[in-house]
Amino acid sequence: MIGDVVGRPGRKVCKAAITRLRAAVELDFVSLNGENLAGGFGITSKIFEEMTAPGMADVITMGNHWSDKPDVHVVRRSSPRLVLPQNLADLEGVDKLPVFEMRGGAKKIVVINLMGNFAMKGDYGCPFAFVEKHRDQLRAWVKSGEYVVVADVHAEASSEKQAIAWYLDGVVAALVGTHTHTPTSDERVTARGTAFLTDVGMTGPYESIIGMDVERTLRRYFGPKEKRAHEVAEKDSWFCGFLVEICARRGVAVAAHRLQWREAVDAWRVTTTTC
Ligand SMILES: [Fe+2]
Ligand SMILES: [Fe+2]
Repeated sequence: MIGDVVGRPGRKVCKAAITRLRAAVELDFVSLNGENLAGGFGITSKIFEEMTAPGMADVITMGNHWSDKPDVHVVRRSSPRLVLPQNLADLEGVDKLPVFEMRGGAKKIVVINLMGNFAMKGDYGCPFAFVEKHRDQLRAWVKSGEYVVVADVHAEASSEKQAIAWYLDGVVAALVGTHTHTPTSDERVTARGTAFLTDVGMTGPYESIIGMDVERTLRRYFGPKEKRAHEVAEKDSWFCGFLVEICARRGVAVAAHRLQWREAVDAWRVTTTTC
């Protein structure tokens, strides 16, 4: 599971890192958060094709920037592999739980994508009510031995992400937080088999302010206030992901690896956690 991929530098480092990972380990399923893929804001059909090409991501989850580019509606009508936040209000069919095949057809995988409440502009339903409504069903699916459940909770507040992780403890095999564009280092695998990380972090340029050009962004805060349009930064790209090993029998996590790859120096940081 890969965090918010920001703009062209993010796409480049993401593709290079996935290729390297696939050469080293067998990945049965790859998700990435794509709300910032197109110039930092939203997604286009062309970029969707690029990032879900063979050998890249299986699904793309989204967040508050989901509709920044109108092309998103073309993508969502043409491919189930674009997963929108299920608590988006007033978008027909978005609240259904999307199910995909894992590589090799061993299991089905349910991909949850939810928007948090705190400091989020937009029209969203309550993420907690959503998981409350679906938890029993999800648990039954996992118990059946046929399903794995993963979640990308797109939220500003760490507390909201952690609350959903613990509420779904033993139900979701993997839960990552996204949105803050800043990785946390609190990865855990619980005794019941939920691997979670409060925020997986941005995949994109880190010589930046959450992925955006430093000079331009500083002018929004310092000196005579000048609200310049955001522009994606270019330097020091990192890939940030969470690689979760899932027990084939129980459908829950047995180990998780927080992965960061700094492109310029070709350096990996891998932190491994087991339950
Ligand atoms: Fe983002
Ligand atoms: Fe976001």
